[in-house]
Order: sequence, then C-alpha cells, then structure tokens
Amino acid sequence: MRSSVPGRSDARLTYTGGRRISPLSDGARSEILARRYRAIRGVTTRLCQTLSSEDCSAQSMPDASPAKWHLAHTAWFFETFVLRREDPNYSIFHPRFEYLFNSYYNSVGEQYSRPDRGLLTRPPLEEVGRYRAHVDAAVSTLLDDPGRLSETALDIVELGLHHEQQHQELLLTDIKHLFGQNPLAPVYRATKQAQSTPIRSIEWHSFEAGLVEIGHESPAFAFDNESPRHRIYLEGYALASRPIRNGEFAAFIEDGGYSRPEFWLAEGLAKVREENWRAPLYWLHHDEKWWNFTLGGLRPIRMEEPVCHVSYFEADAFARWAGCRLPSEAEWENAAAAAPIEGNFLEAGRFHPEAAQGSFHQDGPLQLFGDVWEWTSSAYHPYPGFQVADGAIGEYNGKFMSSQMVLRGGSCVSPRSHLRPSYRNFFYPDARWQFCGFRLARDA
Ligand SMILES: [Fe+2]
Repeated sequence: MRSSVPGRSDARLTYTGGRRISPLSDGARSEILARRYRAIRGVTTRLCQTLSSEDCSAQSMPDASPAKWHLAHTAWFFETFVLRREDPNYSIFHPRFEYLFNSYYNSVGEQYSRPDRGLLTRPPLEEVGRYRAHVDAAVSTLLDDPGRLSETALDIVELGLHHEQQHQELLLTDIKHLFGQNPLAPVYRATKQAQSTPIRSIEWHSFEAGLVEIGHESPAFAFDNESPRHRIYLEGYALASRPIRNGEFAAFIEDGGYSRPEFWLAEGLAKVREENWRAPLYWLHHDEKWWNFTLGGLRPIRMEEPVCHVSYFEADAFARWAGCRLPSEAEWENAAAAAPIEGNFLEAGRFHPEAAQGSFHQDGPLQLFGDVWEWTSSAYHPYPGFQVADGAIGEYNGKFMSSQMVLRGGSCVSPRSHLRPSYRNFFYPDARWQFCGFRLARDA
C-alpha cells in the first residue's frame, strides 16, 4: 500500500487502492462486508447456474477465460490476499491453485499460460465449487468475528468484492463470445426484450469552457486509478444526449464506412482489413436483414438499441463520418458527475443494451450509466500524482497504463453497485467482445 497517504496514522483513514475514508468501527464494517461478501459471491455462482460443465471449461480466444477459471480465480484472490495473510490456521485448498489461478500478479509468483486456460479440464467444475465453498467458509469466519481483521485487511476484502464484480461482467462477456462461435447460437438465458421505442434524434448538451475537477473523492470505495482528484481545463464542448444506435451505425455501414480510409486511423484500417470487419461483432447479415447474437439468442436487430461490441477504432471512424468526435474522459465525467446511477445493469437480468426509456430532459445526457461502456478519446494514463501501491495489490491497475483507451459508464452486464462517475475501464483499441458502444461529442 502507498505509505504517503495523508492521515495514514489516523485509524479512521484507510486506503484501498484508491483513497477512502471509513467512518465505521472495524466491527460494524466487518458486519457490512460479511453481508456483501455472501451476496456478491452468491451472484457469481448463480450466473453459472444455467451453464453445463462443458460450457464452463471452454475458452474461445486468448483474451477470454473459461467460466470455471473466473470462478476459481475470484476465490484465489481472497485466498491469496486475505486468508494466507490474515489467518495462520487457514488450510490451503490445493497447493497448485496458487499457480493455476493467478492472473497476472508477478509478486505472488509464476502464472499458468493465459491462452491455455481452456486446457484445464482438471480441476473439474465440482472441485472448483468446493474450492469456493472452502474459501467462503474461511473468509466468513474472519468477517463474522468483529475486530478480527485490521482496517487494512478489510480494505482488501472490499477490493476483492469489487474484483469479483468485475469478473461477473467478464464471465458474461466471455460466455457470450464462446456461445457466439457456436452455429447452434445457444441461449445463455431466455430474456425479455423491452418494448420497442422509436429512435429519437440526438440532442446536444453544452458545457462551458472552464476549469473542472475529475477523479474520485468521497468516503466510498474506488480503485487507485481514479485518484488523485485533480483539476483539468476543458474547452467548451457539447455531448450527445444518448449513445449511438444500431440504426445510425447501419447507415454508416450502408455508406461504405468500413471501406472508406478517410474515416479511419491507420491502425484501425489495418485491423479492418486484417479481420475483414464489415459490421459490429455479433451482427449477422442473413436474408437481407441484420441479426444480432445476444445472450438471449439470435434476434433481428433492433435499430433503436445502442450499438454494442464495437472497437475504439470503429467508434472513432463513425464519429469522423458523422463530423463529430468522441468525448475525452474528462468531458464525460464532467457531464456525469451529477447524473443518477440509473439504467440497465446486470441486476435487470436482460444482459443486452436497450433504448433509453423515458423522455429527454434539460438536466443532462441520458444513459450515461449502464447499457454500453462508452469509448472515450482518452488514453489510459495515470492521473497527475498517481502512485502505484506497494506490494502485489499495486499490480491491480497501474501496470496496464499503456496502449489502452478509457471507457466510462458501465454496461448491461455491470453490477450497479460497482459503478460511479469516476470509474475508469480500459481496453485495447481493437477490443470488441466487451459490451462497448459510444456517444458523440463536438466542440462548442
Ligand atoms: Fe482478476
């Protein structure tokens, strides 16, 4: 952990990756975390209820992981960073799991090859279930004993719960990618579609030039990459009232968007040609109609829904075609700072982006949270004054701050309690398998 946090000696000030202040006693916080621990771990298990053991073992590409690996790795996190450190009586479930289910923590040790995770037919799914139960029992014993864990250890439990929620989203995106390779177009879960709504034209919300502050600053949890809060000068800009829709993206396709070099970054155009991109991932053209593969199965595309599963390159090319640009992350956060965290999240169980419900209003842009992560024009870099935490937890975010772009807002498979205006997601600019869309911005 970073040692130079102001107030570090004050027991009421604690640090978890990001700066946080806990006004609670250790016992009260332990009780709250115990309840959240059971609830969040239970969600992960339930997400896998409709999957077979074969579904849980397969890996569709190097970037995706089998569901079984997600289930085991999230238990590994608590075993490694809480139980091994805090419980001298903890019995290690399996000595080789430290190697098998370590994702990228070099400080912990060597890791099993990521692209080969689908080869791990052993341990079987049932054993991973027993591993999770073993870890859950041990963590619960610690949390149920008020004052047993230090404030620093409780910080790690809280970090572990947010980590678990990140993996809930990854588990769904990876299952979608796996099922998307299957000509049977498997249904992960039969989901109800929202009522069809007409496409509404974009309105523009203007923001005056000036000095603004972005970054996390509240007693609540945040990851280290959201801090320190800092000032940034923004020129006047306007932000679109909603994300770009399938219908609008279809117009870009029909206008030859994918084959017109003038709209593309060089690296993006190379990717279009190399991968033969002609539409967003999961779009299929059949019988002169566009279809969309979803976690609810194959469906005719709804033109009013936000476009999803596009790379940064596609979002940027569309913006150029439309005579606009993508917002920077500071512009996005400045617009979202006062917006309610409402929308279509994992809890809704629809697992697919939907058109905004309700009417546009004067208060600000709609659908900033939920439905689709929104690509920004900002490279993923440290904020001024950012310091990597000491030890293995310092590897959580900081070492990935190169060659990736920031996304904001969360998606239809993000847990609602996991999101906030300062949240920074990040992916490589050619990544398409996450639930990524975008909204436009323009200079004022
Ligand atoms: Fe992880």
